[in-house]
Amino acid sequence: MPVPHDVLAETELWDAFAESAFKAEAEPSFCWTQYAGHGPGAELLGSPGSVLEIGCGTGRALAHLAQQGVKANGVDLSPRMVQLAGDRWAPLGVRIEQGEILEWLAADESQYDAVYSIFGAAWFTDPSRLFPLVRESLVPGGVFVFSQPPAIPGAYGPQGMYKGGFAGKAMFTYRYSYRPAVWERLLTRAGFATAKAEVLEAPKHGHIGTLIVSARG
Ligand SMILES: C[S@@+](CC[C@H](N)C(=O)[O-])C[C@H]1O[C@@H](n2cnc3c(N)ncnc32)[C@H](O)[C@@H]1O
Repeated sequence: MPVPHDVLAETELWDAFAESAFKAEAEPSFCWTQYAGHGPGAELLGSPGSVLEIGCGTGRALAHLAQQGVKANGVDLSPRMVQLAGDRWAPLGVRIEQGEILEWLAADESQYDAVYSIFGAAWFTDPSRLFPLVRESLVPGGVFVFSQPPAIPGAYGPQGMYKGGFAGKAMFTYRYSYRPAVWERLLTRAGFATAKAEVLEAPKHGHIGTLIVSARG
């Protein structure tokens, strides 16, 4: 059963997130997990000439790739984040556009060697609508990689999420959680040739791990 995303309300939520998450002094960095220096790096993308980060937020991962000579493009729902990150990383050649990812991809005619999301739009968008659009935005053989927290056992599908605690203005969005095998099935159904989803353990026993999913078009 699809959930009723409200793009305007979600935009307001992510604008509020931008005010606290964006730090002007933060340096470029690329990490798939929530633990700095833990897990694989940008090598999961292969050696792309061009990338698209969906839900790129602060843009630090794009900035890292731009420093390696990659043509780095990003999309984010929050106009505030796009303004902050866009201004911050433009001198490195990073290009960030504002848009809701389903609408943006449907209108975009470019193709990328790699599309990726780090706790980004792939977590907050219905995969049955997103994955076919990502597949079409890749060059033949291109890669799609995303990371996010693993599902809480028994809690699968769209999950409602309030922003910033349980008092005050009701701002919420939806994020999507499935078991690794289900992510793989959703990707192959969307036309990807191969798909692999795994949970990487946290650096400390008993802490929250990271789901990392890779697919090839
Ligand atoms: C948790 S943040 C993480 C982003 C990034 N990895 C970073 O380092 O900042 C998620 C981002 O996804 C964006 N986002 C959420 N839903 C989106 C959508 N439907 N289309 C585009 N961007 C979206 C939000 O605006 C937010 O900046």
